Amino acid sequence: MIDTLRSVLQFRRFEFDANKRRLSRSANVDDLRTIAKRRLPRGVFDYIDGGAEDERTLAANQDAYARLTFRPRVLRDVGKVDPSTTLLGRPLPFPLVLAPTGFTRIADPQGELAVARAADRAGIPYSLSTMATRSIEEVAAVSPGRKWFQVYVWRDRGLVKDMIDRAANAGYEALVLTVDTAVLGRRERDVRRGFTLPPKIGLNTLIDGVLHPGWTWAFVRSEPIRFANVIGSSVGDGNTAVSLAAQVNSQFDRSLSWSDVEWMRSVWDGPIVIKGIQTVDDAVLAADAGVDAIALSNHGGRQLDSAPATLDLVAPCADAVGDRIEIICDGGVRRGSDIVKAVCLGARACMAGRAYLYGLGAAGELGVDYVLSHLHGDMKRVMALMGATRISDLNRELVG
Ligand code: GLV
Repeated sequence: MIDTLRSVLQFRRFEFDANKRRLSRSANVDDLRTIAKRRLPRGVFDYIDGGAEDERTLAANQDAYARLTFRPRVLRDVGKVDPSTTLLGRPLPFPLVLAPTGFTRIADPQGELAVARAADRAGIPYSLSTMATRSIEEVAAVSPGRKWFQVYVWRDRGLVKDMIDRAANAGYEALVLTVDTAVLGRRERDVRRGFTLPPKIGLNTLIDGVLHPGWTWAFVRSEPIRFANVIGSSVGDGNTAVSLAAQVNSQFDRSLSWSDVEWMRSVWDGPIVIKGIQTVDDAVLAADAGVDAIALSNHGGRQLDSAPATLDLVAPCADAVGDRIEIICDGGVRRGSDIVKAVCLGARACMAGRAYLYGLGAAGELGVDYVLSHLHGDMKRVMALMGATRISDLNRELVG
């Protein structure tokens, strides 16, 4: 009996590193979301996890992936599967770009630095947000990899031009112009909590903080959270706690229009990606404007609720713009199979924000590494099961 038991019993070695332990018990991005929900204060988690109003678009982005099924081919020799591709004319190990996210340091004190390093290790581009809590230069100093800079156009164009010049000097490859944020969407989870950024210490926050001592200890020990790209400027650097809506509504330029895209061309030599396209007509206008790529995006369901699921836009936009510009599909990506589906429909790559923030919130920088290698590995497995060995094998015949 002892022998029988010995042959079937298998204990895992205890992992002393808490981050590694958490990751060793996770199987996917949703597991990391569950862990992040436990570890982060509720207000912080809801800011990351939530969307606008009834969160219909937030749900629709993921549902669109769930609805689409595969039509796998078999007996096709999948001994070697290679998901590498090119984006903006440069090679990429698999078709993913890390989306810009504001205030990344609320998930982990290393914030944008951790994410940029992980992206560099994975060989994929990282987009740094205008609303970042680490500066253009700080991120460039830790990551020699591909970096894109996301631009919100503030009323003060001099300040925007200054940030664009800094991005050029620091070796950023592309500008991402976000166009879906004329005013801030109504994120009702934040409204209910009176959530401010940087988080303001009120009674609720104090209780939340006591209930999440790991996060709180790391937060109070690290330097204050600021808009690192605009420290000391007229737009305010986040030195005082403000509601995000107040900041956006007072500083973002609502007059932004297609002529500003031309302006951007005149102050930036590299590729431009317009992020926030939500119709075929605007995809065509972007191609006519001569930009290099568009990100079909509804800001992860955080802006206009009832905006269409981005995956549903991929095929019609690809049909309308052809090879004139590259299409990136942003929002709802949680699995490698999601990326495969978007590529089958005509996307060049996907963009993901929450997926890596869940990793960061669950296990810091290691958590981001986990997410990226998970998505990469997932893609290879899914392609093998579909009978596809290269990105060029992925087409609409394989989904339905
Ligand atoms: C900022 O861009 C946000 O979506 O909160």
